[in-house]
Amino acid sequence: MRIKTILWVAGSAVALSACNWDKTTPGYTYMDDMYRSPAHQTYEPGTAKEPAEGSVPRGYVPYTIPNTNEGYAASMANTEVPAMYETLDAESGKQLYTQFCSHCHGEKGDGNGILMQREKILGIPGYGADKLPDITPGSIYHVIMYGKNNMGSHASQLNYDERWKIIKYVWKLRMDQVPGAVPAAADTAAAQPAA
Ligand code: HEC
Repeated sequence: MRIKTILWVAGSAVALSACNWDKTTPGYTYMDDMYRSPAHQTYEPGTAKEPAEGSVPRGYVPYTIPNTNEGYAASMANTEVPAMYETLDAESGKQLYTQFCSHCHGEKGDGNGILMQREKILGIPGYGADKLPDITPGSIYHVIMYGKNNMGSHASQLNYDERWKIIKYVWKLRMDQVPGAVPAAADTAAAQPAA
């Protein structure tokens, strides 16, 4: 009986010791980190970490050939194409080509787009083998990534798959070109509204 009384008194003392009159604090708590995780300040050292070295965003495919003359030559010899390129339907790149390339290179890829007709940009080649004998899918990828002289880089406008779709379509246009043919729209340039 006495032991029970002593345990009751001691137990109550321990339990009551957690009570206090300050309503903003919980008093003594047992292992409080278990239910109140220590909050970090935004950007406190050790919170926002740099991504691990070599990380790339999801879906991003790095291109390692540099933007130099040697890099351009290397891209011509680069025969590496993604597996999906082989089975890609050329027409799947038509819409993208129309949006991003045809105003310069022309709907047919003959180098006679609207900006050429209006003489806004000159020196735009057709894709035919007579005009560009040495290009390869790898070199077209290189030119899309970095641009070339009057042609700007299109790397930020097109993702990896879109670039290859366009290349497939450009290659089809190249095959359709009749070597030595005069751009079809050359004689209709005068009919264009004044720029
Ligand atoms: C602003 C007009 C313009 C646009 C838009 C444009 N190009 Fe060009 N492109 C040029 C000019 C100019 C050249 C000639 C560059 C040179 O060799 O001086 C060229 C050259 C090329 C070449 C030949 C490069 C070589 O190796 O000689 C390819 C292939 C090509 N463009 C593909 C494309 C594709 C694909 C697109 C669309 C994603 C595109 N271009 C968009 C103006 C343009």
